[in-house]
Amino acid sequence: MMDGTTSIYRNDEKEGAVSDTGYITADGRQIGGTLMELRNITLKFGGVVAIKDISFDIREGEIRAIIGPNGAGKSSMLNIISGFYTPSEGALWYKGAERPPMKPYEVARMGIARTFQNIALFEGMSVLDNIMTGRLTHMKAGIARQALWWGKARDEEIANREVVEKVIDFLEIQAIRKTPVGRLPYGLKKRVELARALAAEPSMLLLDEPMAGMNVEEKEDMSRFILDVNDEFGTTIVLIEHDMGVVMDLSDRVVVMDYGKKIGDGAPDEVRANQAVIDAYLGVAH
Ligand SMILES: Nc1ncnc2c1ncn2[C@@H]1O[C@H](COP(=O)(O)OP(=O)(O)O)[C@@H](O)[C@H]1O
Ligand SMILES: [Mg+2]
Repeated sequence: MMDGTTSIYRNDEKEGAVSDTGYITADGRQIGGTLMELRNITLKFGGVVAIKDISFDIREGEIRAIIGPNGAGKSSMLNIISGFYTPSEGALWYKGAERPPMKPYEVARMGIARTFQNIALFEGMSVLDNIMTGRLTHMKAGIARQALWWGKARDEEIANREVVEKVIDFLEIQAIRKTPVGRLPYGLKKRVELARALAAEPSMLLLDEPMAGMNVEEKEDMSRFILDVNDEFGTTIVLIEHDMGVVMDLSDRVVVMDYGKKIGDGAPDEVRANQAVIDAYLGVAH
């Protein structure tokens, strides 16, 4: 299954086998067992079949890329994982149990955070305040409780601020923390969006084209931050990305979609050598 050039090792020290509990990559990263399974997912919008009977899994700690031409159904797939869409058919398993239909905020509370293909920040608010909104899923003190036990609410506020400051340091955006987001260049807005997602301290992070529209330098920065997040926090990352160089560099495994169908799935080298993938995607410029 895996060729000699891929970075897949097994836990049990036998060449070539990937065990249920995980494996270690050539560069020493620990990939765990299955965290999420998408089973026979179909998604229809009226007569449009956006996703057709797709199955794949996501392992704990890996960087899992989803690639494919425009309209392939990639964003729709991320929207299913994040609870924005409910599949027409099929099931989503998470940590070994079928996940019932959930609202996006419920999915967020389970530790799944996302960024959007089109930036969705509050342009008039500062970087800091935008990132603070990423803490909303963690805020327990309701209005009434805040009035009665304001001390508790204040403790929570302080704890939230600490997390946010850590994220700001981590993504190296101290210098713009007070700047209104609307005044930032595109690449930095994308970084602020990543910061807001990280402020939720997610165990799984969904990134929809985090590098689209960026110049080479911005892409390099973003790639480094994605790898650092994965490395430092062990965050599982699902990444939609068009730049094949980036996908090959960053991801452990790749799902390839075309017209709502899965046409490839495997390590980057395997996928790159797959004729169906070459025909559908890699042969054409995007
Ligand atoms: N909310 C929606 N309503 C109707 N059609 C949609 C909706 N979202 C996506 N689609 C359709 O589903 C298909 C897949 O779209 P999308 O998931 O955005 O693809 P990708 O992210 O791979 O470019 C497209 O044909 C798109 O027009
Ligand atoms: Mg998309």
